[in-house]
This record gives sequence, structure tokens and C-alpha cells, in this order.
Amino acid sequence: MSISQDPNWWRQAAVYQIYPRSFADADGNGIGDLQGITSRVPYLNELGIDAVWLSPFYPSALADGGYDVDDYREVDPKIGTLEDFDEMVAALHAEGIKVVVDIVPNHSSDRHEWFRQALAAGPGSPERERYIFRDGLGEHGELPPSDWESVFGGPAWERVTEPDGSPGQWYLHLFAKEQPDFNWDNPEVREDFLTTLRFWSDRGVDGFRIDVAHALTKNLEETLPKQAELGQLGTGADGFIDGSHPYWDRDEVHEIYAQWRKLFDEYDPPRTAVAEAWVHPERRARYASPEGLGQAFNFDLLMAEFDAGKFQQIITKNLTEAETSGASSTWVFSNHDVVRHATRFGLSDSTVTPEHGNNGKPGNAWLLNGGHREDVDVDLGLRRARAATLLMLALPGSSYLYQGEELGLQEVGDIPAEARQDPTFFRSRGAEIGRDGCRVPLPWTSAGSSFGFGEDGAHLPQPGWFADYAVEVQEGQQGSTLELYRAALRLRRELQTEESLEWLKTGHKDVLAFMRPNGWVTVTNFSDVKAPLPAGEVLLTSAELNDGMLPGAATAWIRRTSLDATVTGMPEPRQRSPKRSGAQ
Ligand code: GLC
Repeated sequence: MSISQDPNWWRQAAVYQIYPRSFADADGNGIGDLQGITSRVPYLNELGIDAVWLSPFYPSALADGGYDVDDYREVDPKIGTLEDFDEMVAALHAEGIKVVVDIVPNHSSDRHEWFRQALAAGPGSPERERYIFRDGLGEHGELPPSDWESVFGGPAWERVTEPDGSPGQWYLHLFAKEQPDFNWDNPEVREDFLTTLRFWSDRGVDGFRIDVAHALTKNLEETLPKQAELGQLGTGADGFIDGSHPYWDRDEVHEIYAQWRKLFDEYDPPRTAVAEAWVHPERRARYASPEGLGQAFNFDLLMAEFDAGKFQQIITKNLTEAETSGASSTWVFSNHDVVRHATRFGLSDSTVTPEHGNNGKPGNAWLLNGGHREDVDVDLGLRRARAATLLMLALPGSSYLYQGEELGLQEVGDIPAEARQDPTFFRSRGAEIGRDGCRVPLPWTSAGSSFGFGEDGAHLPQPGWFADYAVEVQEGQQGSTLELYRAALRLRRELQTEESLEWLKTGHKDVLAFMRPNGWVTVTNFSDVKAPLPAGEVLLTSAELNDGMLPGAATAWIRRTSLDATVTGMPEPRQRSPKRSGAQ
């Protein structure tokens, strides 16, 4: 298949996120690499995705899993070379798969050449002006400029030692201390990112995922407010929907994206971008506008419980929002920052605790309780995850999938403390367990060193039960999660149609049904008793039908033969839906 020149390819794409260090390890050093990805292009092609998004593969000390970048225009020697990158892009493009890369513009790593120069040059130098340095408070500048806490816990300011050996200024880092924030008021910083975007666009990259897109511009001119006045850190604009927060979601950030858009539009087809922006929903549209990045993640489904009412409300709201912004909607259940959805959906209410914000993600309470597998209703979690995914893949807009979810992979919740890597675990002193459990290298085979990931183990420990989820075990296996994803993605391409849907009446609050303009109907049963299906040809189901009925926690795709807008003949399931269940 040749690569599509359609400028709208992204609008309803199925995008598969690869966390390169945990996908496939070709050189057998325990860390996944670019050659590993290239070797799995046939797998990606067979899966039927439209694009891959690669989390950072740049040189990095991995203080934050690669989101601490030493050099934005290089490949980490541990995982490959620029030539490997070109080969990977060519191999993906040859199968018609687009390539999206992650850009981390809010902060570099503390090993970045610019940061090293800033430390060496001393206070007041132009080198320091590329980052956010301030004198400390107190008689000798021994106190940080404010009491702000970083998103990962601990203080957001770090004191440096000046070139003459004396204790010196402080720099701002909203994340780990190895991630100093750039000063986006400095034109040099702006220019350098344009160079980076050109560098990758010229190498054939089709689009960009913009990390913490709502940070970047900051207002640190006046007396800095107290942490208590800022609300919950990491939630974006909670309570700051007027853009008045000193560093989240300020209006000026859009000037940067308008400039980036001009650059993207110089290419044919234009390069795409999707914003990771944890902002008030009312302010998301600006990131997604055609004059800006063009698309923005909404994490609403990812934060939601498996509940018909909540799903319907979220879907309706986001489709309306997309219409306002001119972008297409984005949908996502799993990524490298959250507990995998096959696990989340198998947790009882008390262990989910979906507080809002970057820190209070669903599943965190279970992790804090030890993340034991016996506390997860694994079967229920997987049934619900399969149902939810099949629903998502039928929605108008693009779906973002995370490596391993096509295997129904569960979170590894009980990684021993000494094997953990995530800075959130260390900085919060264990108050947060962190994100390692969804970053464990994938199982390709049911036996062998690191389950086929590579020849020399895996950089995060894989549990024995990974064997049951291996690609090898599921391939060609009727009813396996891998075959469900393959069938769904194949059909999705055939069925794809205009970006709208119509809700159908089902007569039951726990059963959702919607129809796309071409008669592609999706029915999801959120209850645990079987429900009738509307007339039509059953194309695919996430669970086996039971006497022609849709079992609980299942989704069906149906081709309507008549296009009337109600699903007649769908009486209430016999029992009332029970309370959400799951192991204690
Ligand atoms: C984003 C990334 C996350 C990273 C953080 C800081 O939220 O998804 O993995 O830790 O930004 O770069």
C-alpha cells in the first residue's frame, strides 16, 4: 500500500502508540530499539493501524522515560541511529503506515547542551535566559523563589552550584529536577523548536504529538502566588479558565502553535499535530483548531468508569466540541501514563478512585494497595476493555491505541520498588507508585528470554502470566483479543464514513446504541445481563452472542438493513443491572 497523500488522513485514523524502549529489542540489550520496531512492521501492518506514534527515542538519561531529552535531533545510541530511524520510516511508509513522533517542548533534560552551558555561564548570562533561573528568597537566597510543587512531587525549584562553587540561583522544573523548563519568551528557544520540527518533517515524519502542550509560556513577572492559590498542580486550568494561571494554559501559548501551524502547512500533505493538553474542556478547542495544532487529546473516556450514562455524555460533549473547533474527536483508553484499561475495568469502585487531574488517575489507589493481581477481576476487566474498545473504534474521529492493549494485556501492578524507574515513585517517596506497570516490555512468545522481546532480558521485570498474553499464543486463535483488534481495525477501514453519529433508543439505560450515517450500528451492553440486538447483519462482537442476544459487558457491530432511527424490539434485560462488581 502506498502512503496516502490525503491531507485529512488523520481525522479518523487509528493511531498505535509505541513506547520504543518496551516494544521489541533487536540488538538484545534489554532495551527496545528502532530496528526492533522495523522488524515488527509486518505485525503492525497485519494489525491494521493507520499510523504509529512513537514516544521519545531521543538521547536521554531516562530520568523520565525519555521525556527528558538531551538532543532533539538525534536518536538515543542505546536504541539506534538516524539511519535506523530512516529505515523504520521507510518500512512503515511502504505499508501505508504514517509516523507521528513526540515533541517535548516544555523542558529539556539537564544534560542538554544548552542547560550545561547555562550552568557554566552563570547568572545574568544569555545562556541562562534559555531556561527559567531566579535568585532565591531569604537573606542568602537559600529559599526557593516560591513554594511550588512539581507535578511528580517535591519542590518545583532546584538550586544550582555556580561556576565558582558557591550556592547559587534556582531553576524551575514543573516535572523532575532533571527536566528544566525552557523560557519560551526567548526567541532563540522558539527558533530552535522550529528547526527541530523541520528536521523531522524533512525526514518524512507525518505528524507530532506535543507533550504538555498547555505549559510552555509562563508569567513569572510579579510576586509568585503560593502553591495553595494555584489549585491542584497538573490539572491544567482547574479554576483558571481565563488563562490567568502562571504556567498552565496561558493564552500566549497559542501564538507558538500558530507559528508551528504555518510550518506544518508548508509540507504536502501538511504535517499534523495532536496536543496533550490537560485543560478545562472549554479551552481545549483552541489547541485543536486548524490555526493551531489541529487536534487535542480528550482523556474523558480514559478517566471514566464503565458506565453507559457517563460514556454517552462524554461522547456527545466531545463530538459537539470537535464540531466547534473544526478538529476531529480523539478517543483513548490507555497510554504510557495510566493503568491499562483491561485492569482498570476489573477493579472494584473502592480501588479505582478517579479523582481528576494528571496525578489522580484511575487505578492509582489499587497500585498504592500493592497492585496485586488477585485484587483485579481480570476476566471482567478484559470483557469490559474489549467492549469499550470496540465501541471506541466505531466512534467518529481518531482512536489512539497503546501497545499491548491489542493483547488484552494487564497492568503489572506489583513491580518491586528496586526495579521501578518512574520518577513519580521516587519524588513522591512512594505516595505515587508510578507508571512502570504499563511500560513493561511486550510478550511476543510464550517462552524464551523475555518472552521474545529480546535476547537479553527486559529492562522492567515481566511476570510469568505474560506468557498467556503473548502474540504467538493469540495469533490465529479465534476469539483472542489480538484477532478481535485485527478484525475490528480491518472492518473499521471498510465501514469508515462521515464524522457523525445518531443515538438509537434502546429502552434500557445500560445499553447504548448509535448509528453512523451509512447504517453501521454499534450496541454496547454495560449491564451484566444479556440484551437483545436490533435487526441487521452482525459483523463483529467483542464476546460470543448468547442465543442471539448480546451478553453483559459486550459490544456488537451491526449493519442495519433499514435506516430507521430506533432500535425496535429491544425489551429491557430481565434483571436490573447490578452494582459495579469486581474482586475486593
Ligand atoms: C507528559 C508525558 C509523560 C511525561 C510528562 C513530562 O505528560 O505523557 O509521560 O512524564 O509529560 O514530560
